[in-house]
Amino acid sequence: MTVVEGTGLELDDIQIGALHERPSPYVGSYLLLRIDDAAAARALVRRLIPLVDSGRSESEPEHGAWITVAFTYSGLKALGVPQESLDSFAPEFRQGMAARAAELGDVGVSSPANWEAPLGTSEVHVAVAVLAPDAERLEAVAEKARRAQSELPGIELVWRQDCYQLPTGRTSFGFKDGIGQPAVEGSGRPSSHPSEAPLKAGEIVLGYRDETGELPPMPTPEVLGRNGTYVVFRKLHTRVAAYRQYLHAKAATREEEALLGAKMVGRWQSGAPLEVTPERDDAELGADPARNNDFSYAGDPRGFRCPAGAHARRANPRDALDDDGSVNVRLHRMIRRGTSYGPLLPDGVLEDDGADRGIIFVFAGAHLHRQFEFVKTQWLNDGIFIGAPAERDPLVGQGDGSGAFTIPRTPIRRRLQELPPFVVTRGGEYCFAPGLRALRWLSELDTAPTPAGKRTT
Ligand code: HEM
Repeated sequence: MTVVEGTGLELDDIQIGALHERPSPYVGSYLLLRIDDAAAARALVRRLIPLVDSGRSESEPEHGAWITVAFTYSGLKALGVPQESLDSFAPEFRQGMAARAAELGDVGVSSPANWEAPLGTSEVHVAVAVLAPDAERLEAVAEKARRAQSELPGIELVWRQDCYQLPTGRTSFGFKDGIGQPAVEGSGRPSSHPSEAPLKAGEIVLGYRDETGELPPMPTPEVLGRNGTYVVFRKLHTRVAAYRQYLHAKAATREEEALLGAKMVGRWQSGAPLEVTPERDDAELGADPARNNDFSYAGDPRGFRCPAGAHARRANPRDALDDDGSVNVRLHRMIRRGTSYGPLLPDGVLEDDGADRGIIFVFAGAHLHRQFEFVKTQWLNDGIFIGAPAERDPLVGQGDGSGAFTIPRTPIRRRLQELPPFVVTRGGEYCFAPGLRALRWLSELDTAPTPAGKRTT
């Protein structure tokens, strides 16, 4: 089926989580469901549609609270989506995240064999994310979601993860996160990085032209694919005590610990970018959305201010790779919607308390492979692109303890050796978050004609 290009983004048809930042502070839950009965699943989708929709309306009492619904490949299959349509999804989505583990670096302790059940198995069909500004509004929406699922014997809740903004407003390693985000053309939300033009909508939402000028491959039929987006969801356990111990062992003072930590991330804990303030943190700058993402790397090619191997610089090298024009950074951008889970390790504690804490990393984009997988494999897990093939991302590179991180300095650079893994993958899934029309189509699948004109049962 040919895709007719719209004149603008059909905002009313796109699930809110893709283009709208989550509330801050927030509380939320991720729920994973298994479909044992296709008719019950279609009934579930029918019941969830008004909840997904109501998250959009500012007049609703639970304004600020919303539900995002997404499906794995196994989920779409269990819903009764015709094979011809299933075959039209991106190959990585069809394989699922667990099958991509070796490629993604999910090996050893992070390998699917060690993931939390049932993550990475064909038992995970529907992912529901509920996010709200406070517990009361979360409960109101969660209760509706629970009611949508209860009384449907063919649907099982198989996993749940609660999340919430830590009292510090930062993630478990102590850093403010979620600052570097691209703007999307037509979304009405401005760019936080003045030198980065908004991305073409097709980079994030299916059915629109992307940065290459093309319409990205879209699942068929059009009603299913259009206004959908791929979603990557990963539970990443952070080894905060190991991280603190490492910095403690390498630094002579707390100031130096903070500096080494900032060099690894590319920002200070407040969010202030090293490029702007390389010597010390600047809390006011970190908190100022008009300034905290307004920087580039072009004036710092050797990484004296922010090392080329720092996490944020790897994940988005901005103008640092423009030299030979071989890499178009705009083709590897992504929307991130991460949240924190687990208790804070109190400030100054160096011993592991055994608690599970970390982030639920959430990606939204139209291209699983050239966006999420590319950044993870080429930029975070490898160092060839920065001329340091033996180095991985010092924070999230999931090394085996033999990793190194170079901090350019004069007169001589500093090299951190034997970096232990600070992040462990506990599981994850590749999902597809359809537009609202597509959700309706899915809920009526039993009567909807298939792309081949046949009827499904
Ligand atoms: C536990 C794992 C992770 C932690 C703790 C973490 C933490 C951070 C922090 C503190 C920042 C700087 C703040 C900001 O610019 O928003 C950042 C930026 C970023 N991270 Fe991560 N991150 C993690 C995993 C990942 C993964 C797996 C990816 C992608 C595959 C990723 C992609 C990005 C991107 C694209 C940016 C923005 C860079 C920019 O635009 O300047 N992160 N992350």
